Amino acid sequence: MNASTHPSEPFPFLFRPMREEDIAEVMEIERHSFSHPWPESAYRHEIRYGTDSLFYVLQPYREPSPTTWWDRLLRRRPGERSPIVGYVGIRFLPGEAHITTIAVHPEWRGRGLGKYILLMAIQRAMQHRVRFVTLEVRASNRVAQQLYTDLGFRVTGVQRGYYRDGEDAWLMQLGPLDGAEMERLEEIRRATEARVLTYERR
Ligand SMILES: CC(C)(COP(=O)(O)OP(=O)(O)OC[C@H]1O[C@@H](n2cnc3c(N)ncnc32)[C@H](O)[C@@H]1OP(=O)(O)O)[C@@H](O)C(=O)NCCC(=O)NCCS
Repeated sequence: MNASTHPSEPFPFLFRPMREEDIAEVMEIERHSFSHPWPESAYRHEIRYGTDSLFYVLQPYREPSPTTWWDRLLRRRPGERSPIVGYVGIRFLPGEAHITTIAVHPEWRGRGLGKYILLMAIQRAMQHRVRFVTLEVRASNRVAQQLYTDLGFRVTGVQRGYYRDGEDAWLMQLGPLDGAEMERLEEIRRATEARVLTYERR
């Protein structure tokens, strides 16, 4: 249970390491999310052999109840496995954690889950004592840019023609991750959890 939630109201999503059996679902989100999806083999390789990278998924973990929004959304029956609703990849470089990918299933967007996944990834990165979190984002991807800016990422450069189709990448960075910054991010995480929970009660 997360510190921000009432004992009777555990946070209804589990952020956990990606496993090979998750890849089919991850690929479905990937194909809905990126014009040039990673191949399945890339995820398989990272999970099996990625010594400097970590991948996580987010999954509802509560027993289904017909009165909650996600069970209506999932049309899930008791005993059925929860779907994966989003994922993130982190690669560790000296002093830095690089977000290699992040996506939320289209049907689950706009509820704070993307922000929650990114915050959890940043917290995992901080456990590895990195000073900075970095990423690239397409120049046209306003939604993701807004998410990163909201969390305090700043643009540090532009890489011309970075993507296969010739689009530029914005290079963004968060940090240095000192104690005050960690507290600030924890505060946002708590607020994001509360926001996600308000959707559950609808
Ligand atoms: C980017 C992505 C992960 C965001 O996931 P999400 O669950 O919809 O995001 P959230 O609901 O947590 O919203 C987080 C923030 O993103 C921004 N955002 C989300 N939807 C937005 C929209 N339609 N327009 C503008 N900003 C938006 C806002 O800053 C929002 O914070 P706020 O709601 O407090 O204002 C999701 O849109 C996605 O999977 N996109 C396709 C893959 C992708 O582009 N990944 C990034 C690669 S760099």
